Amino acid sequence: DDFFATVAEKSDGAKLRGDYSKIDAQYVVAQDWDAYTPEQHALWRRLYQRQAKLIPGRACDVFIESLELLNIGDGIPKFEESSELLFKATGWRLVAVPGLVPDHTFFEHLANRRFPVTVWLRDPEEFDYIVEPDVFHDFFGHVPLLFNPIFADHLQEYGKGALKAMKLDGLSMLARLYWYTVEFGLIQSPEGLRVYGAGILSSGGEIEYCLSNPAPLRLPFNVERVMRTLYKIDSYQETYFVINDFQQLFNDTAPDFTPIYQKLKALETLPANALLSGESNLAV
Ligand code: PHE
Ligand code: FE
Repeated sequence: DDFFATVAEKSDGAKLRGDYSKIDAQYVVAQDWDAYTPEQHALWRRLYQRQAKLIPGRACDVFIESLELLNIGDGIPKFEESSELLFKATGWRLVAVPGLVPDHTFFEHLANRRFPVTVWLRDPEEFDYIVEPDVFHDFFGHVPLLFNPIFADHLQEYGKGALKAMKLDGLSMLARLYWYTVEFGLIQSPEGLRVYGAGILSSGGEIEYCLSNPAPLRLPFNVERVMRTLYKIDSYQETYFVINDFQQLFNDTAPDFTPIYQKLKALETLPANALLSGESNLAV
């Protein structure tokens, strides 16, 4: 019964990782930066360096620019310092959380321009793949995008919309939207396709795969199509949805979804690899 179980960054039935003994009412904790070990900072540097090499020509501009500004290559960042930079840019703040938080709590944070970042770092054996989001995924993958004002506004609206969707039984549809945009979204640029989804940006393998492998589908973003489409949680995606720019993401998700939920509930869901008649796969 939590959102990330819904969007499935968590394996079924697994016990939550992280120390929940010191949470406040919003599940917020102190980051306790001094408790990270030299080995953990070294692991962060290795993760950072691998991704930094893959980023040029693949990540969208705001990601590359914000990553430079954040200056987080030397070790696990201090959330408070980055939070100040972010607040000056777009009015968002970072809050430290022990790990996955309940749906309602997560959306309340987003709706109030607070991004929850997990405090723990993966173990060295999990260098290539991690089931639950850790500080590297949450910070490296998500935080740079929040420096784009339109994306930042969009994510706040998403949080508000999700609180509303919980009352309308629309959360599974809205979770698909999050998955195919915030986590696995691609965006057009004058120089070609680029990545803005955090699940790809923090992945050593998918960042190359999603842009150049001929196997997956790359379809133009469409809200209703996305909200009907199931997704893979334990492999690379079979379909990526491509936005033209962040304004399109904001505008296309702005209308009241109430009638859309009603309509889509009457339709069948689509498998992750569906290609409908009339749809054209974007060539790479
Ligand atoms: N417009 C949506 C609604 O009315 C809310 C929403 C905004 C959902 C942005 C996702 C992203 O329910
Ligand atoms: Fe994520």
